[in-house]
Amino acid sequence: VPVDPFDLVIFGGTGDLALRKLLPGLLRRYADGQIPESARIIGVARDTQTDAEYREKVEEALTRAIGDDAALGARVPAFLAKLIYRSLDATKDEGWDEFGALLKEYQDHIRVFYLSTSPSLFVDFCTRLRDQGLHEGAARVVLEKPIGKDSASAAAINDAVGAVFAEHQIFRIDHYLGKETVQNLLALRFANILFEPLWNANRIDHVQITVAETVGLEKRAGYYDTSGALRDMVQNHLLQLLCMVAMEPPAAMQADAVRDEKLKVLRSLKPITREEINQVTVRGQYRAGASGGVAVPGYLDELGRNDSRTETYVAIKAEVDNWRWAGVPFYLRTGKRLAERVSEIVVSFRHVPHMIFDESAGPALPNKLVLRLQPDEGVKLWLMIKDPGPGGLRLQHVPLDMSFAEAFGVRQPEAYERLLMDVVRGNPTLFMRRDEVEAAWAWIDPILAAWDELREAPKSYTSGSWGPSAAVALVERSGRTWNEDSN
Ligand code: BG6
Repeated sequence: VPVDPFDLVIFGGTGDLALRKLLPGLLRRYADGQIPESARIIGVARDTQTDAEYREKVEEALTRAIGDDAALGARVPAFLAKLIYRSLDATKDEGWDEFGALLKEYQDHIRVFYLSTSPSLFVDFCTRLRDQGLHEGAARVVLEKPIGKDSASAAAINDAVGAVFAEHQIFRIDHYLGKETVQNLLALRFANILFEPLWNANRIDHVQITVAETVGLEKRAGYYDTSGALRDMVQNHLLQLLCMVAMEPPAAMQADAVRDEKLKVLRSLKPITREEINQVTVRGQYRAGASGGVAVPGYLDELGRNDSRTETYVAIKAEVDNWRWAGVPFYLRTGKRLAERVSEIVVSFRHVPHMIFDESAGPALPNKLVLRLQPDEGVKLWLMIKDPGPGGLRLQHVPLDMSFAEAFGVRQPEAYERLLMDVVRGNPTLFMRRDEVEAAWAWIDPILAAWDELREAPKSYTSGSWGPSAAVALVERSGRTWNEDSN
């Protein structure tokens, strides 16, 4: 279904996110007929260049992103014709009046302002938009993470943006919520009767959430070294996944109903204290090793400095302190330069209460529900069955395995495709509300403070491994192991 006509302004229009994700995503939506012909996409950055030069740069990026997809390639010229470039500096007056006039050419268009820039410029951009009178009516602003580096700075950004835009106009993006399998978790939990009666501490032993990457610093030293894995991945993506697993059933698939439930989970997270910090968290940093058979340098070499204590890996034993989840650990881990690129959620059920088979049958392993977010999206439900064939009854642990690619034979849309169209439609269900962001920081702040106080060096791990051995010990201390599929 086509969305209403819109103008989408990307502040940071020549940046990595715009070129690698936003514009290729928009091209796909355009090729699918979802973007009306009158829509305009306006790239904004400080460099001076013409529309033609910008289109050339975007064309190169699109060619890289779509590979040999000829059908999509055929739509590129028409898509490029929608692009306009404007050179603007948030801190200087030049060009803003012309920019205002450009947008006012189409009074009936929805206006989307995507702030894909350093958060330090959010306030200036919002003020400029207000000065031009562009903030009213069907205008929306999209905030890319990071939204702050702790509770106080997040609140300051939210206050500043909130002084110009109303909360219903603000779309705080967490692209993990746009991933197909994450939405599938909602379908699985709330469109089936099978799981929900078991979805609690009585039947679930623990949950694991892994987001493993093979990439390293990727030319983002300036940002990443001041951030680290806890702020970059856990505060947002991993906690959002945790919320989707742990939340109560919302009354409806409606923005505030869903976000109210997620907020309750964030507020139920048990605070991690200074005393237990080294029992329940592990910080790591990669050293040289191999990724995909290729030798890669360590973090400090990539950074060109040897004094950074920034973590590129983190593992945490989290707990949701409420009636449903009392005593169920949620093990979270994420890191760069790990053995494989894999993101998954593993829900590990309890053992059967009583074993009727004798020892020769072998052990009854617990059921496990594994949601694979990427790559090879799909769902596996591990069950015990009888080993086929004659002879005694022997048990086997096998997965009911549904690969989405095999089951549906269609391309899984990228997170940004879905989310950008949701912004145009004005549907904030898969975006973070202000209180959610702040509640997530409120749980992260004491962890950061405890780490700062300890001033310990992160544990070193070899690139291409599964992270520091302390992370193995973290789950093994309670007699558990990380899911072997991703180990
Ligand atoms: C971003 C982080 O939010 O997510 C990056 O800033 C990370 O450090 C990326 O690489 C991972 O996203 P995806 O979709 O590739 O899993």
